[in-house]
Parts: sequence; C-alpha cells; structure tokens
Amino acid sequence: MKIEKVGVVGCGLMGHGIVQVAAQGGCQVVALETAPEYLEKGLARVDKSLAKLAAKGVEKGKMTQEQADAWVAETRGRITGSTDRADLADCDLVIEAIVENLDAKKELFGALGGICKPETIFGSNTSSFPIGEMASASGRPERFVGLHFFNPVQLMRLVEVVRTDATDGEVFEAAKAFGAACGKTPVSCKDTPGFVVNRLLVPYMVQAIQMLDRGDASAEDIDAAMQFGCGYPMGPITLTDYVGLDTTLFILEGWTERYPDEPAFAIPQSLRDKVAEGKLGRKTGEGYYKWDGDKKA
Ligand code: CAA
Ligand code: NAD
Repeated sequence: MKIEKVGVVGCGLMGHGIVQVAAQGGCQVVALETAPEYLEKGLARVDKSLAKLAAKGVEKGKMTQEQADAWVAETRGRITGSTDRADLADCDLVIEAIVENLDAKKELFGALGGICKPETIFGSNTSSFPIGEMASASGRPERFVGLHFFNPVQLMRLVEVVRTDATDGEVFEAAKAFGAACGKTPVSCKDTPGFVVNRLLVPYMVQAIQMLDRGDASAEDIDAAMQFGCGYPMGPITLTDYVGLDTTLFILEGWTERYPDEPAFAIPQSLRDKVAEGKLGRKTGEGYYKWDGDKKA
C-alpha cells in the first residue's frame, strides 16, 4: 500500500505545512482550496518556509547554495494547486485540514467518497472531532484514519495516527509509514476526544486563560512562568494566539456539547469575546497579544 500521491484539502495554517512536509517526503501533492486567492496565500507560505529551511541548511554547512536551490526547486516541483475536488480522484491518500467544523468535514468526506478511487485512504487533521463520524460519512470507514499534525508542521516532530474500530490494519500501518516519510514520529492513538496531546494541552490553555480572566496574573507573567519555570518553548497564552483563538473555541464548543459536565473543557469568557471581535491570534495580528507578522509587536 504505497503512498505516492497525496491530496491536502485546505491550505491554511496547518494545510500548507502538511503540503510541504509531504512534498519534502517525496510525494506528489495536490493542494486544494476553495478559491485561487487562498491557494496562492498558502503556497506563498510554503515558498517562504522552504527558503528559510534552505538558508538554514546552507548556514549550518549541511548543503551548498547550489544543492539548496535544487532541493527547493525539486520539492516545490512536486506540488500543484487546485480548486477542483475532481483533481483528487487518483490520490493514494487525501488529508483534510479545513476549518474545525464537523458538518463541513462530513460534507467534504461524503463528496470525496464518490470522487476518489476505491483504494484512496482518507485522513483528517481534526484537533478534536471523532474520527469515526467522518469515517462513516466517507462511506469507507475501513480506509479512514486521523492524521493529526502539530503547528508549525514544518518544525514539530510528532504526528498522531488515530484508528477507529473499523480502520483496516494495513491502512493504519500505511498511514504511520507516511507520517514517518514526512519526517515525523508517529504515535498510535485511539479515537478519543483530543487524542493524546490536545486532551492534555487544551485544558492547560483553558486554565491559563481563566487565570488571566480572574486577574490572578498578567499574560506576560503566566507565559514567563511556564517558559522559565517548566522549560516550555512558549507559554500557554502565546500558544493560544499561535494555535488561533477561533480554532481553540471550536475545539471547546465541540467538547462542551458532547461533555457538558467536564470542567476541564469550560469555555473562558475572554475567548468567546475575542473571537466575536475577530481577534483570532497571530493570524489576524491580534489575540491575547498584538502581532507584527510572525513576531509579537
Ligand atoms: N518553516 C521554517 N522555519 C520556521 C518556521 C516554518 N514554518 N517557523 C519558524 N521557523 C524558524 C524561524 O525562522 C527560526 O529560525 P532562526 O533560528 O534561523 O531564526 C526558528 O525556526 C525558530 O523560530 P523562532 O525564532 O520564531 O522561535 P522559537 O525558537 O520559539 O521556535 C517554535 C518556534 C518551534 C514554534 C517553538 O516556540 C515551539 O516549539 N513552540 C511550541 C509550539 C507548540 O506547542 N505547538 C503545538 C500546538 S498545538 C497543536 O498544534 C495541536 C492542535 O490541534 C491545536
Ligand atoms: P485555517 O483557518 O488556517 O485554514 C483552513 C483552510 O481551509 C482555509 O484556508 C480555508 O480557506 C480552507 N477551507 C475551508 N473549507 C474548505 C473546503 N470545504 N475545501 C477546501 N478548503 C477549505 O485553519 P487551521 O488552523 O489550518 O486548521 C485546520 C484544521 O487543522 C482544523 O481541523 C484544526 O482543528 C486542525 N489543527 C489546527 C492546529 C492549529 O494549531 N491551528 C493544529 C493541529 C490541527
């Protein structure tokens, strides 16, 4: 079950990174978006990241400038863009990285079930929704896995590979091998809310925001405490800006609907307020912090 051609649906924060690491891993990649301008924006992010990685390779003496240029051209040459779902028909694997909305994801997989060849494996990058529900909607639950990458995809070394009771054993092994080909360490997960990482990480972010909302400490002090007291690369408030306040809220809304009595999933008021104001974090220039491009303003 060799994965040579990969479709990635959604070329946003996560999708563009998945497109890139799949191409770096040697796959032909079709990036699918809803409109040409979103596609252009996503592929421009791939170009910027590839240039950064190439420059770092040269700086560290791992490759010459000539080799770096060839690596960028070869990797980028494996990627094509499309706004037509029919272009995913002959992919060996299609990974979904669209907005965290279960109805949108089910609609997509229902349609792809009718478009893609019978052998195509489907994977979802969802942060929080049950893989089993999307698998049923696709009409091919035995060929469905969760493939949960981490932000920023180019740098984070993990992929959670999620199986349901219906997932075929060979499909699961092929998905893990694909994750490894993308340069990631695959961990096996069951279809539980948040899998391993988000079941631990999102409640931690919630606690930090609630601490801020109560006025127990400033955002800067909460972040500094976890960075310098625990050695985390960034604090939880910065991390929420990094993940996206909308995505964090969608995750919590999905969970509170299913598990209304779980206090770890309680939605902080400031998160609701900021999303309503369009302050979605780093991607919109303001969340809990103000941002100037990739850096805090
Ligand atoms: N492509 C290529 N290079 C990149 C890059 C990208 N996308 N993003 C950053 N870099 C480079 C930077 O240019 C920088 O290069 P130099 O050293 O040459 O300057 C280098 O990587 C380090 O970046 P920064 O200087 O910006 O900052 P940093 O040292 O703090 O590292 C980080 C950034 C790797 C993101 C680090 O802060 C980190 O690990 N943070 C935690 C991230 C995390 O927890 N992610 C998981 C989020 S949760 C999730 O993803 C699941 C979910 O479902 C919500
Ligand atoms: P994003 O908003 O940055 O990107 C989503 C992209 O999908 C947008 O570019 C949008 O135009 C496109 N899109 C929406 N509907 C589409 C459709 N029907 N067909 C094609 N394209 C469509 O969101 P994101 O942060 O990249 O999140 C994407 C998925 O990855 C979500 O399920 C999210 O929970 C998950 N995730 C996010 C993070 C994170 O840190 N942000 C980490 C891991 C997983």
